[in-house]
Amino acid sequence: MSREPIGVIGVGYVGLVTAACFADLGHEVICRDIDAARVDVLRGGGVPLHEPGLEDLLRRNRRRLHFTLDLDALFARARLAFICVDTPPMPSGDADLSRVQAVIDAIPVSAEGAGLVMKSTVPVGTGEKVRRGLDARGLHGVAYVSNPEFLREGSAVSDFMAPDRVVVGAASSDDADRVVRLYDGIDTEIVRTDVASSEMIKLAANAFLATKISFINEIANVCEAVGADVAEVARGMGLDRRIGASFLRPGIGYGGSCFPKDVRALKQLAGNSGYHFQLLTSVIEVNEIQKRKVISKLERHLGSLRGRQIALLGIAFKPNTDDVREASSLVLASRLVAEGAEVRAYDPVADGAAVAAIGARVVTTPGEALDGADAAVIVTEWNEFRAVLDPAMRDRMARPLLIDGRNLLDPAEAAAAGFEYECVGRPSLTSPVTAT
Ligand code: UGA
Repeated sequence: MSREPIGVIGVGYVGLVTAACFADLGHEVICRDIDAARVDVLRGGGVPLHEPGLEDLLRRNRRRLHFTLDLDALFARARLAFICVDTPPMPSGDADLSRVQAVIDAIPVSAEGAGLVMKSTVPVGTGEKVRRGLDARGLHGVAYVSNPEFLREGSAVSDFMAPDRVVVGAASSDDADRVVRLYDGIDTEIVRTDVASSEMIKLAANAFLATKISFINEIANVCEAVGADVAEVARGMGLDRRIGASFLRPGIGYGGSCFPKDVRALKQLAGNSGYHFQLLTSVIEVNEIQKRKVISKLERHLGSLRGRQIALLGIAFKPNTDDVREASSLVLASRLVAEGAEVRAYDPVADGAAVAAIGARVVTTPGEALDGADAAVIVTEWNEFRAVLDPAMRDRMARPLLIDGRNLLDPAEAAAAGFEYECVGRPSLTSPVTAT
């Protein structure tokens, strides 16, 4: 079966994953970006970001993927174009739609009869605004469809290929059909709806997941106060199908380019419409406090942090990605530096420039971070950090104090390995080594 060629506008992480996955489904994909260096890298077979499985997919489908700087070239081949540009937060909390607007303004007249499919996360009402903008330019025949993405960084390829659902919001069923057909070969529930509801599904889904995280973080904090074990509590809660087990992992706060931005954007969107979204205000506040809780834990063991050497294990906002946007490591490094601590940070993949700018020293092995440290903090749950339990690693530290911000390790194993160990919401065990 021959598949319809498609366009992808903006090849950041969402656009590139979308392009590679549609190519793998058999579509020819014409990708357009305004970043000439990025287009060059991609044309040369390079991959400008770390996403498991993506490199393979791009290599396997190289002959179906084309990269250009030119929107006319895209519309000359493709009659459906996914918009995948970023919508970063503005100081007000609203999403910055300038990149989306720039794309709409640049849609060539040759796109008449084609369709624009919005994958970028946008405020509710964007579809309507874009429609008005297109109509004002006489582009009445350019269709507009909302098709939000639900890709997690680190597992974006499998999320695309095996999604829980595909949401398609359109003003006409013909427009929706055109987009639904592209997903032939993917076995999933299709949610057909209007454009505004589709836009809201995306924001509400992210806000709900963030709410679950802040909720379990608060439960973890209460567990610490009353001596319960949040891992047991989450297991017992999560087995209730109405609650579900996922997104009940406590930690030192959610980060990344999506949750912080989308929760603020939904709160702001509600506020702009005259509604105070009280629950989301708390979700945001709990998350900010959670990022800082490590400081008081360190102080409880070490007293003043001035002159203390602290190892941060992990910089990325979560494992299997190189993304440091809104990562808890940034808040932590900056608070520690402000307290006068000497901070050494290590991450297996993420670039340390952002924590270096704050005043942390970025090192290239976990051992270097631990050398002479008064404490180590697991900031990102990279699997390789399980190796800190090796006695050779512990002995590199001046004091074997380990704060596990992601509950990566088993408290009993950490204590048996001779650490003073604290995690989030679980009782600490006394180490047989440090107790003597
Ligand atoms: C999130 C959503 O999960 C995707 O469905 C959505 O498409 C994406 O945002 C987006 O809007 O583009 P992502 O930001 O890649 O994906 O990462 P998640 O795996 O959802 O994790 C977000 C943050 O929550 C991380 O900092 C993670 O450490 C934290 N988290 C997650 C917890 O603290 N506890 C949990 O139980 C789960």
